[in-house]
Amino acid sequence: MKEKILVTGGTGYIGSHTVIELQNAGYDVVIIDNLSNSNADVIDNIEQVTGIRPAFEKLDCLDYEGMDALFTKYKGIKAVIHFAASKAVGESVQKPLLYYRNNIGSLVNLLELMPKHGVEGIVFSSSCTVYGQPDELPVTEKAPIKKAESPYGNTKQINEQIIRDTVTSGAPINAILLRYFNPIGAHPSALVGELPNGVPQNLIPFLTQTAIGIREKLSVFGNDYNTPDGSCIRDYIYVVDLAKAHVVAINRILEKKQKAQVEVFNIGTGRGLSVLELIHIFETATGVKLNYQIAGRRAGDIEQVWANPELANKELGWKAETSMEDTLRSAWNWQLKLRERGIQ
Ligand code: WQD
Repeated sequence: MKEKILVTGGTGYIGSHTVIELQNAGYDVVIIDNLSNSNADVIDNIEQVTGIRPAFEKLDCLDYEGMDALFTKYKGIKAVIHFAASKAVGESVQKPLLYYRNNIGSLVNLLELMPKHGVEGIVFSSSCTVYGQPDELPVTEKAPIKKAESPYGNTKQINEQIIRDTVTSGAPINAILLRYFNPIGAHPSALVGELPNGVPQNLIPFLTQTAIGIREKLSVFGNDYNTPDGSCIRDYIYVVDLAKAHVVAINRILEKKQKAQVEVFNIGTGRGLSVLELIHIFETATGVKLNYQIAGRRAGDIEQVWANPELANKELGWKAETSMEDTLRSAWNWQLKLRERGIQ
């Protein structure tokens, strides 16, 4: 009997890749998404990749009655992977209340409804933004949580605390918090990938849109940081490797292998790459020359962060396996496929 897993935000970038890996692992997946930042066509693409069409309900996690009815309709959901959230750092500074209402209200609804419907586990999509600029690198899960640099980062910190407080209060919930670093790339089929609305905020979609000619030039936000080549350093992780970490976390919860009711893991490669290094790897891996310029720093950027992923490697038996060359080639193939399909 296939265990049923609810994926909130499952038509989004990381969510859609995770649905594919859950189906590949034999899980029965139910997706809910309010489609505020994604498209229902993703369901067709997931079906094309796996041959299995996941159940889908257009629903906002803020809709308590709708969520209650969802759990009643899809009896037997064993666990939830909670991706649904607003996630643009810059936008969160402009619209903090939208971020607090959406990101916190959604989680509170979920946590209230889970015990009522016998849902025992949650895997929460957290972020390395909770660390701010770490004092020591690579950063471990024991690093101090610093004052968030944005309302978006603050909602991740608050949500982690809400989960801990709920478990401490005696709620029959087991939780795994996955702190992502920088997810990039696309599914090897090039049928699923990152499709930001409007002008991309994140580096890789802007980079591939520049490479294909949609954008005229990529601006590198600063080359005067205290790093070897002056540009910011991040831990870029292939989105499929990240998706697989969610399956491992779900397995761990359902097989009752957790060592604590709330566990936290850094999901990164352990390798820091600067923006300029990444551009050069893209050019070498794809043979495509990139038009870029050095621009001023972007407000809110931290200088450098990369993961110490040893805890996830050892405890979860999970490791990011994919080379940066293959990761960037997947992003480029996705951009080419979008043009072929007339989408961008
Ligand atoms: C990466 C680097 C930029 C665009 C954020 C969130 C994180 C996660 C991923 C949601 C930085 C530089 C970027 C450009 C550039 N979000 N850059 N030119 O800010 O590290 O992380 O997005 O899950 O939680 O914090 O990602 O891709 O925006 O930037 O030079 O046009 O690329 O300065 O150094 P970031 P990013």
